[in-house]
Amino acid sequence: MQIKIDHLTKKFPDTTAVDDFTMEFESGKLTALLGPSGCGKSTMLNMLAGILPATDGHIYFDDDDVTDMPPQKRGVGLVFQNYALYPHMTVLENICFPLEIQKVNKAERIEKAKEMAKLVHVDQYLDRKPKELSGGQQQRVAIARALIKTPRLLLLDEPLSNLDARLRIEMREEIRRIQQETKVTTIFVTHDQEEAMSISDSIVLMKDGILMQVDKPQALYDDPNHTFVASFLGNPPINNLEGIINDAGDFELKDHSATIKLNEKKGIKGEEVILGIRPEAITIGPDFNTKAEILERYTMGKEELANIKIGSAELRVYISVDHDCKKGDVIDLVLRNKGVFLFDKASGKRL
Ligand SMILES: Nc1ncnc2c1ncn2[C@@H]1O[C@H](COP(=O)(O)OP(=O)(O)OP(=O)(O)O)[C@@H](O)[C@H]1O
Ligand SMILES: [Mg+2]
Repeated sequence: MQIKIDHLTKKFPDTTAVDDFTMEFESGKLTALLGPSGCGKSTMLNMLAGILPATDGHIYFDDDDVTDMPPQKRGVGLVFQNYALYPHMTVLENICFPLEIQKVNKAERIEKAKEMAKLVHVDQYLDRKPKELSGGQQQRVAIARALIKTPRLLLLDEPLSNLDARLRIEMREEIRRIQQETKVTTIFVTHDQEEAMSISDSIVLMKDGILMQVDKPQALYDDPNHTFVASFLGNPPINNLEGIINDAGDFELKDHSATIKLNEKKGIKGEEVILGIRPEAITIGPDFNTKAEILERYTMGKEELANIKIGSAELRVYISVDHDCKKGDVIDLVLRNKGVFLFDKASGKRL
């Protein structure tokens, strides 16, 4: 099912939590709603679920306007951070529960629950109580319970944030698998860019209730439309340098301590800009006049990182292990075409 939202807005007395969103969530795909804490992700999800009324705008499920439809009629499955399982019920009873409410007969609901338990790999724990399960297993049960009604839309609000780092990675792969097997249109809320990048078909990046950019994960990383988008994605993060474009069309640091040659001239000069350089976007080469001093080199797992200084600006970059430069050396470097962006300083928009 395709979800369309049209000028959707939610105002609270002192915040506009969702500000005039117009977009579509693709049918049968997994979309991540990504953004920092407080940017309106849960508010958006709760409006889609029907738990929160919209202040303005419309929500369409395919061609149905569901803006005023009560939650139980929307055919939505919900999973939250705290699994919210019923502690006194077994795994099987928990998964069955939504069908019991719908008065589905017992044999049928047990059969369906077993099928769901198998799908999420908890079929060996059917008689256990939630407290006898690990966090990851409890979250699988919560997902099975959300899926048993065959929802048209599955909404997951930070479902992995109570799990430890390793389990999070395992569970995000599981959610990906379950989504691909069931093909249910899914919206997954997270503030973790790596989680969003690895799990989703597309990402909706939000900031202060505003839709910043919607794109496929790699496209969002490679082609950000705003300095916020460029900075939110990527670890180690992008280097942001403040300065102006000089008469030659190159970048000059604000305090004039260095100039960086740009591969692509934008036909502007004198403008205040932010130059974003991803850590992987430089190479060392002899014929370029951007000089940098190596402040520190260190390895991070299998990667080699360096802190370098260009004029007064410090950057964190990858340097190939083939270069045997060391701390204190001055190197010539060149920017790659990919991973280098110019943003307007005042608006943050990509130039
Ligand atoms: N019931 C409410 N009444 C008033 N303000 C609210 C209410 N719910 C949320 N807000 C405000 O709306 C904004 C968005 O909140 P929301 O919970 O949607 O953020 P979020 O992106 O889900 O954050 P987090 O990642 O921390 O869960 C916040 O500024 C929050 O304080
Ligand atoms: Mg939230």
